[in-house]
Amino acid sequence: MSDHVLIIAISLGCSAGVCVLGAGLVWVLRRRSLRWGIAVVALVAVGSFVAALMGTAQAMFLSAHDLQVAVWVSVVAGTVSVAFALVVGQLAVRWSRILRDAARDFGTQSSFPAGDRGPAEFDELAAELRRTSDRLNEAQARERRLETSRRELVAWVSHDLRTPLAGLRAMTEALEDEMVADPAAYYTQMRSEVHRMTRMVDDLFELSRIHSGTLQLSLQEVSLGDLVSETVAGASAVARAQGVRLGGRARDEALVTADPAELSRALSNLVINAVRHTPVDGQVVVRVRADEGTAEVSIDDECGGIPVEDLARVFDVAWRGNHARTPTADSGAGLGLAIVQGIVEAHRGTVSVTNLSHGCRFLVRLPV
Ligand SMILES: Nc1ncnc2c1ncn2[C@@H]1O[C@H](COP(=O)(O)OP(=O)(O)O)[C@@H](O)[C@H]1O
Ligand SMILES: [Mg+2]
Repeated sequence: MSDHVLIIAISLGCSAGVCVLGAGLVWVLRRRSLRWGIAVVALVAVGSFVAALMGTAQAMFLSAHDLQVAVWVSVVAGTVSVAFALVVGQLAVRWSRILRDAARDFGTQSSFPAGDRGPAEFDELAAELRRTSDRLNEAQARERRLETSRRELVAWVSHDLRTPLAGLRAMTEALEDEMVADPAAYYTQMRSEVHRMTRMVDDLFELSRIHSGTLQLSLQEVSLGDLVSETVAGASAVARAQGVRLGGRARDEALVTADPAELSRALSNLVINAVRHTPVDGQVVVRVRADEGTAEVSIDDECGGIPVEDLARVFDVAWRGNHARTPTADSGAGLGLAIVQGIVEAHRGTVSVTNLSHGCRFLVRLPV
C-alpha cells in the first residue's frame, strides 16, 4: 500500500472516530442551547484534524518534536475556533430570543413587532408570524363585529316584537271591554301585526339555520330564468300596489344547481326590497345573464342610491339603514339581506350591491 493511501485511510478512520464521539455529544446536548451544537461542530473539526495527525504521525515520518508542535498549534487554533463558534452561536441564540419575546408580546398586544434584520431563516419565520398575526387580528375583528351585530339583533328584535305586542294587547283589551266603534278595522290591524311578527320569527329561524350550518339544500338543476319569472310574478301585486313598474328579462338561458325554494326566497327578498325602496312611478328591472362559468341575476331599482358609507353594511344582520326603528306594516327587522347572503353563499355564490345613477343594483352570481 502506498504512503498516500495509508495516510488517507488512517486519517479517515481517526476523523470518523471523532465524528462518532461528536455525534454522541450533539445527541446529549440536543435539548440544550443552539450555541453548544455549533461549538461541537468547531470542536469536531479541530479534533478530527488532531486525531488524524496523531494517527498518521508514524506514516508521515514526523519526529516526536514536530508532532508536539503540530498538536500544540492545533490545540490553540481549536480553542480559538470553539470560542468563535460560541460567539456565532450566541448571535443565533439572540435572534431566537428576539423572536420569542416578539411572539410573547404578540399574545398580549395582538401585533408581531420583530424586525427583519436577522439570518434568513429567522426572517422567514418572523415574516410568517407577522402574516399569522395579521390573520389573527382580522379574525378577531370579524368575531367582534359578529358579536356586536348579534347583540344588536337581540336588542332590536325584542324592540320590534314589543311594539306590535303592545298594540295587540291594547286592541284586545279594547275589544274585550267592548269600547270599539269599528271592530272590523281592529281585526284587520291585528291580523297585519300578527302577520308581520310571524314573518319576523320565520326570518329569525331561517337566519339561525344559516348561521348554525343546519340549512339543508335539496339541490337540483333549476332554470334561473324560470325562477326569476316566478319571483317577478309573485312580487307583481306588491309592485302594483306601490305604483312601481316591475319587469324581468332573461337574456340567456342559465341552468344552475340550486335549491329552488331557498334561492327563490333570496331572489324574492331582493325584488321586494327593490320595489319597496323605489318611489311611485319608478321602475325595477330584473335581468338574468350567463357568462363563462357563472350565472348572474341583477336587480336594478330607483331607490336614489345607498350612502357610500352604508354599502358595506347592508348585508349585516339587523342593519336597516339610518331610519328610526319604528316598525311599519311592510318593514322587516333588517334580516332580509343577511338571509339573502347566507342562502347565496350556501350555493357557493356571491351577492353584492353597487350604486347606479338613480338607484342601486343588487347582483347575485352563481356558479353554473
Ligand atoms: N333595493 C334596495 N334599495 C335601497 N336600499 C335597500 C335596498 N334593499 C335594502 N336596502 C337597505 O338595506 C336595509 C336592510 O335590508 P333588509 O336586510 O332587507 O332589511 P329590511 O327589509 O327588513 O329593512 C334596508 O332597511 C334598506 O335600508
Ligand atoms: Mg328586506
